[in-house]
Parts: sequence; C-alpha cells; structure tokens
Amino acid sequence: MEAMEAILSRRSIRRYTPDPLPEEAVRRVLEAGMAAPSAGDERPWHFVVITDKEMLAAIPGFHSLARFVPNAAVAILVCADVALSKYPPADWWVQDCSAATQNILLAAHATGLGAVWLGVHPVKTRIDGARALFRLPDSIVPFSLVSLGIPATRKEREQRFDPSRIHRERWGAP
Ligand SMILES: Cc1cc2nc3c(=O)[nH]c(=O)nc-3n(C[C@H](O)[C@H](O)[C@H](O)COP(=O)(O)O)c2cc1C
Repeated sequence: MEAMEAILSRRSIRRYTPDPLPEEAVRRVLEAGMAAPSAGDERPWHFVVITDKEMLAAIPGFHSLARFVPNAAVAILVCADVALSKYPPADWWVQDCSAATQNILLAAHATGLGAVWLGVHPVKTRIDGARALFRLPDSIVPFSLVSLGIPATRKEREQRFDPSRIHRERWGAP
C-alpha cells in the first residue's frame, strides 16, 4: 500500500479473526518500529512480543481499556530503556517510542493487519501492571501496547483535515 494511502486510511481495529500471524508479519512490523526516528538516533526501544494466550488474557487485569486484547493474535509492548537516553533529564524517549508505535500501526495496516495503540505510560497502575506481568527490569519503562491480528471488521477512513487548526506565520488567521 502506498504511504499516503496507509496514513489516511489507518483506523484502530479491535476485532480480530482467531488466526495466528506468521512470524514474518510480526518481524515486519517490528522492523518498521525500529525504523522510527529518535532523538540523536538514541533508539531507546525494546519490544516484548506476546502471543501466549494466558499472557494476553492477563493484560486486561491491569489495563481497563484492553478487554479485546485476549482475542488478538499478538500484542507488542513497546518499552523504553531510559538508560539509553542521550540527553537526560529530557524525556525524548516518550517521543521516540511514540514514533515507533505509530510506525508499527502503519506497517500493520499497510500489510493487511488490524492494530490498535493502547496507552500505558504515564498511567502508574498500567506501568506497574505491565512491569509485574512481563518482569521488566527497573530501567525499562513500558510505554504502549499494540494489539494485532487479522481484522474481523472494516472501518472507513475519516476526514479529519481541519483548516482551522492551521496557523500561518503566527497564531491566529489560517
Ligand atoms: C496515546 C494513545 C492511547 C490510546 N489508548 C487506547 C486504549 O487504551 N484502548 C483503546 O482501545 N484504544 C486506545 N487508543 C486508540 C484511540 O482510541 C484511537 O486512535 C482514536 O479513537 C482514533 O481512532 P482511529 O485510531 O480509528 O483513527 C489510544 C490511542 C493513542 C494515540
């Protein structure tokens, strides 16, 4: 799929068929995640790939908006190793991991998968829950979770372009 088409037609997909995903499909979205830009090319990310049904079923236990995740083929926990931050105390890793998460969503959509971004950071209960379930070391911060699968639903693209949000030269007139 062409890049602009993927960007403009991507939607959050929360219903999946029971089919597993080929390992190659998972590798491709991870490759896209790791291709994201990062501050000073610090690439602070790590990715926990979850396919075990019991692990997937445990995720709604710490994330109230994740009730559909147990039906996903795969979930990817995007994490940051804050020890890799090049410019502390600036938390550029938040933006790095956002870019990686969005790249995963776009790659999933472009390759025919359904996906949705679930926020983890900065909600403490979600961070603590993910830390405990996935046995993350102290220096690793869970940032987001992406659930993935073969889509069992189709969503139309939305027209979100809004000229009133555009400001030229200075705040005010579009
Ligand atoms: C930072 C962030 C956190 C989100 N957290 C959740 C979540 O916890 N659960 C969920 O189902 N969707 C979550 N979403 C998906 C949004 O609900 C979704 O992107 C938004 O409603 C727009 O719909 P669209 O993705 O189909 O364009 C999150 C999205 C972002 C960017």
